[in-house]
Formats: sequence, structure tokens, C-alpha cells
Amino acid sequence: MTWAVVPAAGRGARFGGDVPKQYLEVAGEPLVVHSLRALFAHPGVKGAVVVLAPDDARWRGWSDGSGRPVITCTGGDTRARSVLAGLAALPDEVRADGFVLVHDAARPNLRKADLAALLERGREDPVGAILATPVRDTLKRAGDDGGIDGTEPRERLWRALTPQLFRRLQLGRALEAAAADAIEVTDEAMAMERQGLRPLLVEGAADNIKVTTPADLAYFEFLLARRTMEE
Ligand code: CTP
Ligand code: MG
Repeated sequence: MTWAVVPAAGRGARFGGDVPKQYLEVAGEPLVVHSLRALFAHPGVKGAVVVLAPDDARWRGWSDGSGRPVITCTGGDTRARSVLAGLAALPDEVRADGFVLVHDAARPNLRKADLAALLERGREDPVGAILATPVRDTLKRAGDDGGIDGTEPRERLWRALTPQLFRRLQLGRALEAAAADAIEVTDEAMAMERQGLRPLLVEGAADNIKVTTPADLAYFEFLLARRTMEE
């Protein structure tokens, strides 16, 4: 029984503007709906919790018509706190060792094949797995004066994407431990790593972007239009 938790309680400060980015519309639907649709494209996803800001007045509900539930709860002031709220809101049918996919509302371009690969490989891993993509650029370490102090080998460096797949109880404990230590984890894997656990990296497409700036939104518009043409 795999459910999704979709953190959508952010303010989109880096994007700017009045509308939080998860509610910006592309092809008539908000980004959060594009992200949910991508998750529900896999029959193994049995439902989703969308985590909303306390003052959210924009959520209109969504269903793909399959009868799989989409419920909501109220998030917190960090992404990790929002995910914890989402875990708490999962129905009892998601057992302690049941799998949970955490996927950013602001990541609307998840590919079917990547989600399928993550579910297949992550469910076999004792810890869980995340989608990630290898770093392509040469990496420089900056000195305080803005000069280059060196070049970092990039062979083993990956950029973490979402979804990230973990077991409900283990993930909840890891996120709570990080919160108790006042460590702000920026993804679920980081919380698990702090527990000495080693999630699996599953390679996904680099165009599974997190919409952060207006240029990212334009890129998603392009990607969606191209996908529609191909279908
Ligand atoms: N998120 C959340 N609760 C928070 C902060 C973020 O649910 N307190 C969600 C966002 O809505 C987004 C995802 O986590 O879907 C990834 O976060 P990010 O891209 O950082 O979004 P924002 O925090 O909204 O943007 P910014 O950091 O620019 O303010
Ligand atoms: Mg943020």
C-alpha cells in the first residue's frame, strides 16, 4: 500500500509574486495538480496527502476519476515539518512499514518511467530510494574572496530529486530526530542518512525540475508542450 505525501505549503519566496508557485497554472492546471497527475499515473499509488499552508485559500480539490483519495492537511514552517504533518495525516491503511512517496508540489515534470523505476527498486531496498541525477557541470570551491580554491571531483556527486520513497514509520522517526536536533534537512534522504542509513540512488531524468524561478516555469511550459506533441 503506497501513498504519496505532497508538500505544497511553501510560500515561493524565490519565485516572487502574489501566487505561491504550486498554484501557478500551466495548460489550465496548477503545478500541484500536474505533480499529482504524474504520481497517479502509476497504479501502485493508492492515494495522496496534499500538505497545505495554514492560510491556503486556493486548493480546490482534485481527483483523477479513479476513486483514489486525495486528502489534505496543514503543513509547518519548514518543508520537513510539512512532510511530518503529511505522514501524520496518512490513513491507517498505510501501515508502519508501508511505503510513502514524498514528492514536491513544485516538481510537475516527473516522468512515468522514472516513478516506475523508483517504486520497483526502492521497494526492494531495506532503506528506500530517491530519484537523483548525476552532476554534469564542473564544480568549483569558492574562497572567501570570490577566487577559486579548487575543483571538486564530480564523479560521485548527484543532485537529489523527488519523489523519495521510504517506509512510513522509519521516515517519521528520522524526520523527528532531525527536528529534535534542530537540523533543517532539505530532503527525506538527508534525515535517513543522519540515522546511519543508506538510501539507494535511482537515476532519473534531469528535466524533473523543481520550479523555483520564473525561468523554470517557462521551461516546464516548454516541456509540457513538447510532451503533448509527442503523445
Ligand atoms: N514546502 C512545504 N512547506 C514548507 C516549505 C516548502 O510544504 N514550509 C513545499 C513547497 O510548497 C514545495 C516543496 O516543499 O512544493 C519544495 O520547497 P521549495 O521549492 O523550497 O518551495 P518554497 O519553500 O515554496 O519556495 P522558496 O524556498 O523559494 O520560498
Ligand atoms: Mg523553500
